[in-house]
Amino acid sequence: MTTKSKMKGIILSGGTATRLFPLTATTSKQLLPVYDRQMIFYPLNTLIKAGIKDILIIVAPEHSGQYLNLLGSIFKNCGIHLYFEVQKLPRGLAEAFILGESFIGHDNVAMILGDNIFEDNLEDEIKNFSGGGTVFAKAVPDPERFGVVEINNDGKAVSIEEKPQNPKSNFAVTGAYIYDHRVVEIAKSLEPSERGEVEITDVNNRYLSMGELSVKKIDGAWLDAGTFDSLLEANQVVKEKGISRNFDPAVEKAIVDFNEELKMLAKKRLL
Ligand code: TTP
Repeated sequence: MTTKSKMKGIILSGGTATRLFPLTATTSKQLLPVYDRQMIFYPLNTLIKAGIKDILIIVAPEHSGQYLNLLGSIFKNCGIHLYFEVQKLPRGLAEAFILGESFIGHDNVAMILGDNIFEDNLEDEIKNFSGGGTVFAKAVPDPERFGVVEINNDGKAVSIEEKPQNPKSNFAVTGAYIYDHRVVEIAKSLEPSERGEVEITDVNNRYLSMGELSVKKIDGAWLDAGTFDSLLEANQVVKEKGISRNFDPAVEKAIVDFNEELKMLAKKRLL
């Protein structure tokens, strides 16, 4: 009898965030506020809403203490386990699977970039995942700014091109991906690109060449809060659509309890 592989989660929350200097001179991009929650709670919520209980958070060394202060004990006693790895240098998105090798083991993994916010619930795709790779694609008016995926009638990827001058579709590859455990060996076998990074596009192209890259189109808002304007837009859209009002109850309770504890400690300091 074969047992179904478990689904684990990774949030890639390192990087240098140069486009948000000087905001990110003092903290990590993914700890900046998006409306009334720190940015990282949005991808965390997406993974937890999909039923994932084990989540690895990859952080840069200069911010590791801040992550531990905020998240180190926040899910205690609710069956959700957070793990941390430090990425010493931003060597690329695919390095997540190299740093996460022992965490992933023989399981499947859903990865979300720490600065990506999804309005849609990705639960169905995550729960029904049966192997290979899956990327989430969003129709955009300016595909030439993104990784662009061409999709056939079976929902399989036909090609992926980085920032093409003549895009073959208007579907941008977003910052959410699901892979089976083979992603670890694939990531380990990649040569860094010209910019010195192990590229997620190369991972996707490997699954594509095996005919095993599926694409799921998303309908709701997709926000990448990496620039001043997109961060501002993310704040507005999250507020308008009530995205932070619609968190999983376990996430909401964890945040409320954390805030209550902080208030109590602040009061004690004033006494
Ligand atoms: P980017 O936005 O491409 O990079 P960045 O966050 O360093 O920002 P900038 O381009 O302004 O310098 O990264 C996308 C996400 O992936 C973001 O959440 C940071 C994360 N990331 C890592 O954790 N490690 C990495 O090696 C890279 C390249 C990105």
